[in-house]
Amino acid sequence: MPAGAREIFAEGVIVPPLRWTGDVERFLLANVRTPDARRADLAAQRAAVERGADGLRALAARYGSAAVRAAACDLLDYAERRAREALGRLNTIDVVASDWLEGDGVDDVDLEIRVRLVIRDGRFDVDFTGTAPAARGLTVSFAQVEPIVAQRCAPCHSEHPTLVTVAPKGIVLDTAGQIQAQAALIKTVAVDSHVMPLGNVTHMADAERKLLGIWIAQGAKAP
Ligand code: HEC
Repeated sequence: MPAGAREIFAEGVIVPPLRWTGDVERFLLANVRTPDARRADLAAQRAAVERGADGLRALAARYGSAAVRAAACDLLDYAERRAREALGRLNTIDVVASDWLEGDGVDDVDLEIRVRLVIRDGRFDVDFTGTAPAARGLTVSFAQVEPIVAQRCAPCHSEHPTLVTVAPKGIVLDTAGQIQAQAALIKTVAVDSHVMPLGNVTHMADAERKLLGIWIAQGAKAP
């Protein structure tokens, strides 16, 4: 998803559920940067689905489709029963918690997130009533940032780098704490400028720089 996206149409082609044909495949592959790799991905997905279908047909041939359908329903019922039993063993709780998102990256406003959790009689209800409405901006979590830094920076900036023998300038970006501590410098060298990654040997994309920038602007928070 592009970091600056404000609506779904900024995300490229939207593909509704449709029947897979050669024309659909040609159309999709004309819209990606690496059609050969994507063609292989699509072929693998199609093969997986077809293999699943073969397995399902074989089961139906062996036991009859009614029995297979009934077994599938039983499995769902069984999972529900187990989940309700597990919830039923918990004490009744009814709690409210709230936290604040300090800005959404576009507007400098505090957004409340409020949740009420009720566990009672084998039910688990989660109610977000009172939470601020949808905001214009995108929020970026550390979970989105971590793989970017691991892929684009840690090959050099790590306790055990793979592209150099020792982390340049002693800057190590392995843990959340290390990344947070360097947030201001990271912004200077990888968001405001393209000084890093050095020579962009790790192929950092502009969208990744934007995500990093939004995460830092939102306070470089990590769980
Ligand atoms: C190919 C290896 C390599 C990669 C990948 C790389 N760096 Fe560096 N980085 C270096 C080297 C070498 C230096 C030291 C440059 C110098 O001495 O001027 C450096 C220096 C830095 C510094 C210190 C700058 C200063 O002025 O003190 C920061 C911060 C930094 N890198 C962050 C990053 C970030 C963030 C990434 C990923 C987006 C990254 N680097 C990716 C090699 C790399």
